[in-house]
Amino acid sequence: MGGAFPPKAQRCFCIILDMEPSEINFVLPFFHYFGICTDMITINENYMKLKAGYLFPEIARRTSDFHQKNPQARIIRLGIGDVTLPLPIAVVEAFHRAVDEMADKATFRGYGPEQGYDFLIQAVIENAYKSRGVGITPDEVFISDGSKCDTGNIQEIFGLDNTIAVTDPVYPVYVDTNVMAGRTGDADERGCYEGIVYLPCTPENNFAPAPPKEQVDLIYLCYPNNPTGAVATKEALRQWVDYARANKAVILFDAAYEAFITEPEIPHSIYEIEGAKEVAIEFRSFSKTAGFTGTRCAFTVVPRELRAYTAAGRAVEVNPVWNRRHTTKFNGVSYPVQAAAAATYTNDGKKQVRQLVGYYMENARLIRTSLSELGYNVYGGVNAPYIWLQTPNGIGSWDFFDKLLTEANVVGTPGAGFGPAGEGFFRLSAFGDRENVQTAMDRIEKLVTF
Ligand code: MLT
Repeated sequence: MGGAFPPKAQRCFCIILDMEPSEINFVLPFFHYFGICTDMITINENYMKLKAGYLFPEIARRTSDFHQKNPQARIIRLGIGDVTLPLPIAVVEAFHRAVDEMADKATFRGYGPEQGYDFLIQAVIENAYKSRGVGITPDEVFISDGSKCDTGNIQEIFGLDNTIAVTDPVYPVYVDTNVMAGRTGDADERGCYEGIVYLPCTPENNFAPAPPKEQVDLIYLCYPNNPTGAVATKEALRQWVDYARANKAVILFDAAYEAFITEPEIPHSIYEIEGAKEVAIEFRSFSKTAGFTGTRCAFTVVPRELRAYTAAGRAVEVNPVWNRRHTTKFNGVSYPVQAAAAATYTNDGKKQVRQLVGYYMENARLIRTSLSELGYNVYGGVNAPYIWLQTPNGIGSWDFFDKLLTEANVVGTPGAGFGPAGEGFFRLSAFGDRENVQTAMDRIEKLVTF
């Protein structure tokens, strides 16, 4: 048929129009022109509901535009939370050793277990959980190539009719992946998608909202929080766990930044709360903790106790469902990367990771104190590598982005990019190089006041 119209459409129109098949190709273009559907590949229209591009590529695009027009500007990037220090030595050494093993026939490895090598899973259980009094079994841990992927993919195993709740502002992946899956309607003029329950995070609630009054099914929580840098106390998490148990809901707990907690009373894992294993999935990452943003390794814990329900009300174990999804769509993280990740839990590795984290948290302190002294209202940066500041005089967060970029040549992240309640706020990442962070603060000090 040489690229004309599919046979099913042809047959259908031949019958309707009482025409010969040879004549039909002349009239079908008119049907297309008037938007009348013929047989053709269709797109997932949920993607059409998404707002513009993904936040960080949009920031990169604006920054690159500015750079092209101003090639002499020395731009300092405190936008995306990307690390700047190299991998710790213990990690690099383990990485090299594992690569050498892959170069030798006697020690070469092909496919590994999709869920991850036992040596890494055991190290995770011992160091991330047992040390905090939490019991996790090996079959509950799934090693992956990142928490972005895991927090984005996890929604696939839950029904499309679930009501989603997110804190607002929020890491955009949680919302966008639910939009793509078709769990929402369109976005309104503020950018709120129909069908999602937004829980505003404000200075008044310390950016840690309480559970909603209404019934929601799938709840995304991120503590320490990206973007606000807020944390949840044990009591706050207990309220969420109680809510989820009472409402047969599931909490998706993103703990990618737990290594940055400095205050001893703040929980590092939701499983420190009694009963949480019945209702929560936890996501952890080596990205920010140990400099793995370009190396890629993370893990997700799906407890055996966790249940979701069929439409008929039958309780189903969630762990084997995620296992089925993971083993079908993922072939495991490479052996050298897992060996490198496991090295973060050796004595040297732990010490070096602490130094990395300490370096970034000193940046956070510097940003926080400099901006506070300049009169900005500043939040976060104590238990998290993000500083969340109120834009001066209520200036819009994208306007503030442009001002900072063009006048101080500093890139940050506009709060509005994280959700409607982020408008009027701005995020600075503490993952920069120290000298750049200091220079950025000096430049911000010289910004024309508003
Ligand atoms: C961020 O800047 O929010 C993060 O780097 C994004 C991510 O981890 O994917």
